[in-house]
Amino acid sequence: MDIKVRNIRKEFDRYPALHDVSLDIRSGELIALLGPSGSGKTTLLRLIAGLEFPTAGQIFFGAEDASEKSVQERNVGFMFQHYALFKHMTVAENIGFGLSVRDRATRPGKAEIRRRASELLDLVQLSGLEKRYPNQLSGGQRQRVALARALAIEPRVLLLDEPFGALDAKVRKDLRRWLRELHDKIGLTTIFVTHDQEEALELADRVVVMSQGRIEQVGSADDIYDRPSTPFVFSFIGQSNRLPVDVRGGEIRHGDIVLGRTAEADGRWNLYMRPHDLDLVDAGAPGLTGTVSLSRRAGGSRISEFEFGPERHRIEVELPADRGGEPGTELRVRPRRWQLYREGAAA
Ligand SMILES: Nc1ncnc2c1ncn2[C@@H]1O[C@H](COP(=O)(O)OP(=O)(O)OP(=O)(O)O)[C@@H](O)[C@H]1O
Ligand SMILES: [Mg+2]
Repeated sequence: MDIKVRNIRKEFDRYPALHDVSLDIRSGELIALLGPSGSGKTTLLRLIAGLEFPTAGQIFFGAEDASEKSVQERNVGFMFQHYALFKHMTVAENIGFGLSVRDRATRPGKAEIRRRASELLDLVQLSGLEKRYPNQLSGGQRQRVALARALAIEPRVLLLDEPFGALDAKVRKDLRRWLRELHDKIGLTTIFVTHDQEEALELADRVVVMSQGRIEQVGSADDIYDRPSTPFVFSFIGQSNRLPVDVRGGEIRHGDIVLGRTAEADGRWNLYMRPHDLDLVDAGAPGLTGTVSLSRRAGGSRISEFEFGPERHRIEVELPADRGGEPGTELRVRPRRWQLYREGAAA
């Protein structure tokens, strides 16, 4: 099922939580909504589900305008941020719940519901736990039961809000891989919300980066990481350094220092650089220089920080651990890769 979100605006008591959001989701895609707290991720997901209705704009499911349709009519499966299993129901009853509350005409028989529940338990790799109660399961098992419950109604679309929110890093990683495999196997259109960039970039076909009720960029992990379209996306994804520069006649200058060349027009810009895209240069060569004040070890590299220039810009450099960068030593670096954004572009 492909989904088209067209110029959606959503206000809560006149406060706009989403401004003019448009998004095309292809059938069978696994999409991540990524952004800081309050950026509108849950609101967008709830609008797609039919749990909220837009102040303006439309949502299409295939060719059909679903904007006014109810959750049931849209036939979406969802699992929300503060999801909870029904404590007084067994695992099988939890999974079968959505089917057992259907009206008589479409409700499957009890035996059929049980059969489907155990089929779904196989799918989420929890066979044999039908009779357990939620408090007899681990956190990761509960999440998978919640997912099985969302799948039980055979939805056209699966919507997951921070599905692995409360779990430890190792379990999250396992469940992530498992969700990807499950998605590929059943081929549903899936939209999940996360504020964990690693989770979004690793798991999704495309990532939608949101900030303050707007979409900043939609793209693959490579697009988002290597070609961030706004300073916000650049700084939100991974580590970054920012330095105000002047472009004059193709040269990128900070004061007297020429840092590189560009085809961009003359004027004031901001230069954004990743710590691992800075190289050490020899004394005498143009570069950013300073005495390392802090450093930390990150696997095989060392991330060192120094202040640069009279405005004390903070520069973070990532170097192989054996190339120096300990506190108190001097570093001289130059960017190998960067992005330029016009001064005044929102970060
Ligand atoms: N029911 C509501 N009534 C009033 N304001 C709301 C309501 N739901 C959300 N908001 C506001 O809309 C904005 C977006 O909220 P939303 O829950 O979509 O953010 P989010 O990106 O999911 O954040 P988080 O990562 O913290 O879950 C926030 O400023 C929030 O306070
Ligand atoms: Mg949310």
